[in-house]
Amino acid sequence: MLNNRRQVGDWQYTVPSPDTYPYQWLWDSCFHAIILSFYDTESAKKEILSLLTHQFPTGLLPHIIYWGAKQHRSRVDWGTGDTSSITQPPMLAYAAWRIFEQDNDDQFLDKIYQSLFHYYKYLINDRDPHERHLIGIINPDESGEDNSPRFDKLLDLPPVHSFAENLKKRRQLAKENQKCRFDAPFCMKNFFWVKDVPFNVIMAENLQYLARIAEKLERGYDAKYWRQESEKIVKAMRSLMFEDGIFWPTYGEDYKKIKVKTWAIFSPMFASIYTKKEADYIVKNYLLNPEEFWTDYPVPSTALSEPSFDPNDTLWRGPSWIGVNWFIFKGLLNYGYNDIAQTIKEKSIAMLEKSGFREHFNPFTAAGQGARNFTWGGLVIDMA
Ligand code: GLC
Repeated sequence: MLNNRRQVGDWQYTVPSPDTYPYQWLWDSCFHAIILSFYDTESAKKEILSLLTHQFPTGLLPHIIYWGAKQHRSRVDWGTGDTSSITQPPMLAYAAWRIFEQDNDDQFLDKIYQSLFHYYKYLINDRDPHERHLIGIINPDESGEDNSPRFDKLLDLPPVHSFAENLKKRRQLAKENQKCRFDAPFCMKNFFWVKDVPFNVIMAENLQYLARIAEKLERGYDAKYWRQESEKIVKAMRSLMFEDGIFWPTYGEDYKKIKVKTWAIFSPMFASIYTKKEADYIVKNYLLNPEEFWTDYPVPSTALSEPSFDPNDTLWRGPSWIGVNWFIFKGLLNYGYNDIAQTIKEKSIAMLEKSGFREHFNPFTAAGQGARNFTWGGLVIDMA
């Protein structure tokens, strides 16, 4: 964590990995802030404050800030200079609240609230223009799971294809976004528009935390509004995404379901959206099923039964990730599955002990894969 901290002028942030990801990423920084909050709340606050420096006039927070660093293979031209032009799962309010819980510094909340207000308002207004209460993403990278098989169909790709083919499609979308002049509801919507499950779960949960923040700042009217918006998302998820006991992502104006099994089917537990009975079903039949997700080193990002499953994939088509395990761990606790949560924690630590702080792991052998010195591993500190 300390090796990955960077300082630019007065701003501080953490790179996800010095070699592979030498910039600041949005949801990564939220994870970093949670980790930092355990032993250095001032740095945790700085991690969040630096994220807010490049907010768009629309309210969007970009998923990458380059901080002037140039010439790296992961640097993409998003048409915006020093940032990307898309966002990532909105974990900010949650991360900010976790910092607040450590030191009760309401001045910090006051300092960030305006940015948070406009960011969540942007998602509500521009990513749900017809008020169906599901938030849309305009590029698979906005999900945080860049090449997840959940998006294959929309990218017109078969279950088995190369990383290069996948990347080409996503870069094409970044170009369309430039041509659209970053107008999601009117223009980008025509190229890629998915109501994804984890993104909406994270939004619903974060709006509850944003409500708590608003309450602390004596903005009761806002708090009520954020709670209502959160409840509307949960309701819409149930009516538009739920089928066969599972919440599925949807696409298009008629909300067609994308029935590809990835860890996303567990994500609603993070916001307590499944009933206990539904959670029992999903845990028994999918999480603990050795033919689906229960490998020696769970939880694989994509189910073993999917034709797209690849335990050695570059990113999200099979490997186990500590960030995913963190979401599932928290979700399991919401339903009292303490023993299974504990196993996931132990397995996560075992992967780190075996292979070090790698980006992701082979779900059968725990062999380390992807980026090195990857900071998300620190999330095991918060599996408690
Ligand atoms: C990869 C991951 C994404 C993460 C980024 C930086 O692109 O898919 O979730 O934010 O790396 O770590």
